[in-house]
Amino acid sequence: MAQSLNVLGIETSCDETAAAVICASGLGDVEVLSDVVLSQLEEHAPFGGVVPEIAARAHVAHLDGLVKRALDEANLKFSAIDAVAATAGPGLIGGVLAGLTMAKSIAMSLDIPLLAINHLEGHALTPRLTDGAAFPYLLLLVSGGHTQLVSVEGLGKYRRLGTTIDDALGEAFDKTAKLLGLDYPGGPQVERAAASGDPAKFAFPRPLKGKDNCDFSFSGLKTAVRRAAMEIAPVSKADIADICASFQAAVFDTLTDRLARAMKLFSELHPDIDAPVLVVSGGVAANKALSNNLAELCGKTGFRLITPPARLCTDNAVMIAWAGYEHFSTGRTDGLDAPARSRWPLDATAEAMVGSGKRGAKA
Ligand code: KG4
Ligand code: ZN
Repeated sequence: MAQSLNVLGIETSCDETAAAVICASGLGDVEVLSDVVLSQLEEHAPFGGVVPEIAARAHVAHLDGLVKRALDEANLKFSAIDAVAATAGPGLIGGVLAGLTMAKSIAMSLDIPLLAINHLEGHALTPRLTDGAAFPYLLLLVSGGHTQLVSVEGLGKYRRLGTTIDDALGEAFDKTAKLLGLDYPGGPQVERAAASGDPAKFAFPRPLKGKDNCDFSFSGLKTAVRRAAMEIAPVSKADIADICASFQAAVFDTLTDRLARAMKLFSELHPDIDAPVLVVSGGVAANKALSNNLAELCGKTGFRLITPPARLCTDNAVMIAWAGYEHFSTGRTDGLDAPARSRWPLDATAEAMVGSGKRGAKA
């Protein structure tokens, strides 16, 4: 068995300040010693979205205390930490700088290795921590800032198969909620309202359905929702339920179409794999109706579905510590000059798209 290491992880790329300590010995052989997440939801809610300046200030205000809490809950002193990993991007630059600078100070003062981690890679590697998933696997990342289909081929080897060309899926949920007068974040509200609505009431568009690629587009859908709501204004509770149900139906229909293509592509890229795996991560993965749809598709296509626990699907520092561990295990460490990046694509060879990091931040 590989040597076990205590890794401190720090995550500050968007609106969650998070610190965690893991004790890892190998693939799927991980103990989460602490996992502290402080959400800034209340600070941003009045604005209906994340305000970068407010986020950066909140990270600075809470980081020290949060790292201390992570160590206390792990019952460890700083001297027991073997390496420190922090998100170095992509994200809102003020927040990324706050977390990375804190990690650099810790690395320097304790003389331990620093790992500057790509936040998206944290999401991409999570199923290896939770389920011991072996490479390669297909990843659907659906969050407030990113919507991507990625073939995760190895550590540091990511092939983007598809991406949104405009809004991220979580963003589409949030905007739909906002225009219907529902609270932020909108995803859970839309899902709740949809449960009692008629999915066939409104014939919303299925953007890019049938297109010969694996890309997504959600901005036209949002416009169609706005138009429908304006036409029947003032909207009743029942109207909202019908709009939300019809919106979700359109989303799932498109998603299934795009995903089926990506599965085919993935299988062509990896013909030797007989039990291919689909991993779904990001905040939108919490949507039960979505997981039901994906489970059905996986049943048809022979893919095994892995959905990491919700806490590890949304932004957290455990995934950053794990990604740090994975890289450190291969001998990588980063210098104290490691840059903070607002943009940092997983697949550097893929064409830059507005939607593969529009807010430059959330994933
Ligand atoms: O990954 P995440 O927690 O944060 C970042 O984007 O970084 O994702 C948050 C997004 C929000 O847009 C939220 O509305 C969406 O995930 N979301 C959902 C649900 N729960 C959260 N979308 C649809 N259905 C849900 N149940
Ligand atoms: Zn994220």
